[in-house]
Parts: sequence; C-alpha cells; structure tokens
Amino acid sequence: MAGEELDPTVPSCLRLVSAFLAMEPPHVLISLARDCGGGSITERVQSFVWDQCLSKSDGKSHAPYLKSFLKKLIVEVESQGFEVLAELYERLAFYMTSLKDDDSAKGNSRVLKCISFLFPDDCYELPSCPKSRKLVVQLQCSLNMLEGDTGCSVWPSSLFLSEFILSFPDIFSNKSCFEVGSGVGLVGICLAHVKASKVMLSDGDLSSLENLKRNLELNQLSTRADLSERSTEDLDLVQCIHLPWESAVGSELQDFRPDIILGADVIYDPLCLPHLVRVLNFLLDRGKLRSHLKSETCNGIEPDNIHIEGEAHSADSGRGSDTQAKAMPDEDANFEYACHASKEGPVAFIASVIRNVDTFNCFLALADEANLNVVDVTEKFMPFSLLPYLHSYARLSIRLFTLTRL
Ligand SMILES: C[S@@+](CC[C@H](N)C(=O)[O-])C[C@H]1O[C@@H](n2cnc3c(N)ncnc32)[C@H](O)[C@@H]1O
Repeated sequence: MAGEELDPTVPSCLRLVSAFLAMEPPHVLISLARDCGGGSITERVQSFVWDQCLSKSDGKSHAPYLKSFLKKLIVEVESQGFEVLAELYERLAFYMTSLKDDDSAKGNSRVLKCISFLFPDDCYELPSCPKSRKLVVQLQCSLNMLEGDTGCSVWPSSLFLSEFILSFPDIFSNKSCFEVGSGVGLVGICLAHVKASKVMLSDGDLSSLENLKRNLELNQLSTRADLSERSTEDLDLVQCIHLPWESAVGSELQDFRPDIILGADVIYDPLCLPHLVRVLNFLLDRGKLRSHLKSETCNGIEPDNIHIEGEAHSADSGRGSDTQAKAMPDEDANFEYACHASKEGPVAFIASVIRNVDTFNCFLALADEANLNVVDVTEKFMPFSLLPYLHSYARLSIRLFTLTRL
C-alpha cells in the first residue's frame, strides 16, 4: 500500500482539503488529517497534505496560518513516531526565517477563504446541487471579526442561512430577495446560485460593502448600484445597496419590493434594533404584491392556520430557550409554509445566534409592537449539513425565524 496516493474525492480527504481552504483552525486540520490516515498522520497523509494543500497554496494563502498549521502538523507526526516529509520541514524553515512572530497578530489582514458546500449523496436531485456535488464560494474576509462594523467576516448564521437556501432552493428561485446586513456576501452568492430572480444585498458599512462587491466579482457575479437598466442577459447581476438602518427612509425602501427578506446575525446591538425592525416592517408591508401573488399556489397546496402557538424550546436544547418566539406547529408543511407566507405578502428569514437573551427578547417585543409575527422554524426547516468539515461552526447554536406581517 505504501506509495499509493490518497484519493482526494474520498469524503475524509475532501473534508481535509475543504477545511484547509476555509482556514479552519490548525487543530481541526490535524484531527481531519488523522481521519484520512485511519488515526495516524502517515507519510501517505503527509504527501496528500503537501500535494493538495500546501504546495498549491504558494502565494495564495495566508503565510502565518500555513506556518502555524505546519508547526502543529510536524509536532503531531513526530509525537506519533512517524518520519516527517522533508518538504514539510523545508517549508516550515522558510516561514520561520521569513515571518516574524507578530505577523499573525496583524488584526486587519485580509485573507481568502473558500467555503465548500459538500452535497451528500441523497442531495443529487436538488436543483442547487452541482454535478460535482461541491459548490465552492470564495470570500475575501478580515481576520479581525470587528472590522467593517463586523461586516468583513463570515458569521455562523450566514453559513446556516446559506445551507438553508441550498437545501430549499425552490423557496428562493424566481423570487426577488433582499438581504439586510449582508457582510461578506455569502448568502447573496447562494441566492444567485439558486436563481433568485433578483438579488439585492445591503449593508450600513461602506468598507464591508466594498469588500462584498469584491467577493461578488471573485465569484463571477457582476454588481451594479442601479438595476433599472438590467437586461435579460444579466442573470448574474447582484445589486449592492448602502443601507444604514438608522437613516433608511420609506421613499428609499419602497422601490425594492422583495418577495423574501433575509438577515444573518443582525440581531445583536440593542441600539440598532428599533431601526432594524422599522426597516424589516417596511419591507414586509407590501400590499402591492398581494394581488399579484394571490393567484399563485405552491404545488396546489394552501396550508391554513399555520401560525399556531407552540411551546418554548426546552432549556436543555441550548437553543434560545428563554425567548418568546412561537414554535412552528408540528405539520409537514415546510415548503408550503414559505410559499403561503410569500403569497400573502413577503416573508423574512432571519438566522441568529442568540448570544444575549435580553437583546433577543427586545427584538421580539419591537417586532410585536410593529405587528410582525415571529415564528421559530429551526426544526421544521432543518437544512442539509453541507459543511461537515467546519468544526468551528456551531450549527446547533443557530435559530431560524420567519417574520410576516400580521
Ligand atoms: C455580525 S455581522 C453579520 C454579517 C453577515 N450577515 C454574516 O452573517 O456573515 C452584522 C452585519 O450587519 C451590518 N450592520 C450592523 N449594524 C447595521 C446598521 N445599523 N445598519 C446597517 N447594517 C448594519 C454590519 O455592517 C454587518 O455586515
């Protein structure tokens, strides 16, 4: 068996390369490398890491990250009593001499992360599933989570919302979609992938918006501030909008008229919440759309009484148990629900990590005052797990809510 190369399409190998490209912490890479070697980082695994990760990353990846990974990898291999590949020593020596220790601490460094959505076997019939069963999104991000008013990093709820969009593409295809607080643009890129009829991305921070436009270009999507001249060939066109919630006015918002509004990790700053709720309320209040959509049905099914109050989630579920959002009824109506809501008027999908229960309850109270119905649909809309290699992504900490006008 010695000398036989590892197959990069084998799931364990695919996960290791995907985690490397997404810049998962080095200890995660080590654990995935062990999986590839059946528990050990053998010479075969080291060759694979060299060929598929390190040698391909020349000049493209963040050198301090590579240095830190190499250090950990070599320590691990030595501690297991295996011989370390000469290339790995040489590359580490190069980084040791060319990089200073504080290089990795440069907060605002931009790095290129690739988020690979890996579709499992049972997803092949999904319209969102590429032939290769892998969708790779390139994102320029900051290493400083706070840069650009937090909008230059990928936050966990956007990973969840992206998995959701790719798992339920029919909800979004041919729909006009508007995202608030778009950050690096991952959700928007997934919306374009599932063929939303219109993708409108917005952020209040100008540096984040610039970074977002760069990411759209990196993923072969074109951008324009004004869509009035959009032609039918411009299918990959995404609109980028500077939209601080505090100063957003009705005359500005009324033209967007989305079918679906999205937001990921936007509920965290109590000072912004009244403005966010006002913006959501305006975008959700679209009487004009109702007559246009009234005639549509979803697969002929028109579920009634879908907004039934449910019990709060149990405390041991660890999923925002103290919040007062309603739980979805136990009905097999996931897809129909979304279509129904969209038929009655726009629907918003907001994914959130509830870091502070008081802040979240403040959001719920404001939504209630604005006559918005907030429903926790996390269990009902559980997406496929398309990012199994992202160990740093705490999927279970995220909740998905729908918002509609009462
Ligand atoms: C925690 S980040 C989430 C970014 C992205 N949705 C994600 O999940 O990766 C919050 C986003 O909301 C934007 N934001 C925060 N306050 C805002 C405000 N008052 N008006 C508009 N955008 C705001 C930030 O610029 C940032 O992009």
